[in-house]
Amino acid sequence: MFIAGNWKMNGTVAEAEALAQALVDGLPEGAPATAVFPPALHLGAVGKVLEGSKIFMGGQDCSGAEKGAHTGDISVSMLADMGARGVIVGHSERRTDHGESDADVLAKVKAGLSAGLGVVLCVGETLEERDSGRAEAVVREQLGGSLPTDFPAGSVVIAYEPVWAIGTGKVATLSDIAAMHGMIRSWLQDNRPEIAKTFILYGGSVKASNAAEIFATDEVGGALVGGASLKSDDFLGIIAAAM
Ligand code: PGA
Repeated sequence: MFIAGNWKMNGTVAEAEALAQALVDGLPEGAPATAVFPPALHLGAVGKVLEGSKIFMGGQDCSGAEKGAHTGDISVSMLADMGARGVIVGHSERRTDHGESDADVLAKVKAGLSAGLGVVLCVGETLEERDSGRAEAVVREQLGGSLPTDFPAGSVVIAYEPVWAIGTGKVATLSDIAAMHGMIRSWLQDNRPEIAKTFILYGGSVKASNAAEIFATDEVGGALVGGASLKSDDFLGIIAAAM
């Protein structure tokens, strides 16, 4: 299992440090792989708190370009330099707020891999796409368009996040999660065998109270958690549900 907390655009440096410290203090013995994705400006401070702990740290996004004239963007080597070991790419909020296409996301996946970062690739359909019966086709298209055809094994994790379940309190039904995760697994086996065994995370309103049943669902390898990762007790409750 792999439990990832996406802190999004929240908090101060001091709050991020306190949250990281509470996770370091509260992480139980035998916890699954755990990662946090603080805002980029907080990576340095959070990295110091996490030093020597078992908690990985990553960036929430990266540029697809290596360096140069890209005002405001953050390169993968900058993330690595700040102590990040992973990066989330293709989050639906990036796709929506910044118009990121699958081709943009592909460039980011390649950039992350070239810097030796573990990449969490997010895919997921909108409510309109689900209601019109296109959910699986949309996710297949995102996978095909944003996963390179050559990469080192084990360095990409997939996060299935139905857009309509993110931050809304709505969770996909367990049978919908199982169906989508099963589809993703078989798509990977057929099309990207190098990462066929990777974790497939579920994301979208995961909380301590619903995590256990989600983790017990076929092909769910953990969670990408937004809102509930901002409170240490809630996030530690999700970690406990994965044990
Ligand atoms: P949420 O966000 O847990 O607040 O729904 C999940 C995500 O965006 O990764």
